[in-house]
Amino acid sequence: MNQRVGFESFTEAAELLALAETRQPRVQTAPSRQSPLPNVHVEVRGVGKVYTSGRQRVEALRNIDLNIQRGEIFGIIGRSGAGKSSLIRTLNRLEDVSEGQVLIDGTDIGVLSRDALAKQRRRIGMIFQHFNLLNSKTVLQNLALPMKAAGEKDAGVILSRARNLLQLVGLEDKENVYPSRLSGGQKQRVAIARALMTKPEILLCDEATSALDPETTHAILELLDDIRQKLGITVILITHEMAVISEICDRVAVMHEGEVVEQGDVAQVFRQPRHQATRALLAPIKRMIQRAEVFGHEPAYA
Ligand SMILES: Nc1ncnc2c1ncn2[C@@H]1O[C@H](COP(=O)(O)OP(=O)(O)OP(=O)(O)O)[C@@H](O)[C@H]1O
Ligand SMILES: [Mg+2]
Repeated sequence: MNQRVGFESFTEAAELLALAETRQPRVQTAPSRQSPLPNVHVEVRGVGKVYTSGRQRVEALRNIDLNIQRGEIFGIIGRSGAGKSSLIRTLNRLEDVSEGQVLIDGTDIGVLSRDALAKQRRRIGMIFQHFNLLNSKTVLQNLALPMKAAGEKDAGVILSRARNLLQLVGLEDKENVYPSRLSGGQKQRVAIARALMTKPEILLCDEATSALDPETTHAILELLDDIRQKLGITVILITHEMAVISEICDRVAVMHEGEVVEQGDVAQVFRQPRHQATRALLAPIKRMIQRAEVFGHEPAYA
């Protein structure tokens, strides 16, 4: 598998590791009124997922348990095919679980009526690796879509929210531009703004930086952190890159062959990886640190 490692220099890997070690969880303390566990925003209980088509049967998720705190950035990492997208898609019921439950603020989303589910989904924004913008619509029109779909008819309300969000993501001068005129990083900023239009409490990010270069990745991760702090939303972020986890996440779950094989604070998982899958994901960082030590300093051409 060709995994890109998002470091621009040898020493950056070591700096990221140090950053992960000093990162303090920044979860909010205000408890949810509905949640039976204070501060738990998303709870995944014994979730399994089996895909079947004809005689083919793929067990994509097995017995997943997670507690995601309100206001944290929670990372889910694993190699290709580990089940990350399947898991994140169960959180807004884009996929139904085969067993177990997903609870948001203590409510089992598996039993919601169609209307209640539609309402619930507006509380969850999602962004993707390839941005998923409509190329035939301008930035502003792309942003308007989720609110129109939610039944908002007041164009003034839509315009004002869109402009506020474009300002938040640093694209206030691009509202009438078509996506084909934007860079990858700008497209992802638009996608983030679009995901925030319905004022979600949770933002799901499926490989949101995987199509971007390291510098743009860094800028998008900073933006997500900024949004989390300004808007107080919970961010759940899927990636196959430990560099992304170390830069932004408070806690991480490592997936391997459909299971969560390890989870904990990022610093703890980086310092003492217990599972072979985690060690394999950390190996590129370790190799870069070793090379940096051999060189003694950052080479002039790096
Ligand atoms: N709609 C589907 N129908 C059948 N099998 C599926 C479906 N979606 C995913 N799978 C299978 O489930 C397993 C997990 O896939 P998933 O897309 O969740 O992995 P992933 O960790 O997101 O991988 P990647 O990093 O490549 O995106 C894989 O074996 C995949 O082939
Ligand atoms: Mg995926």
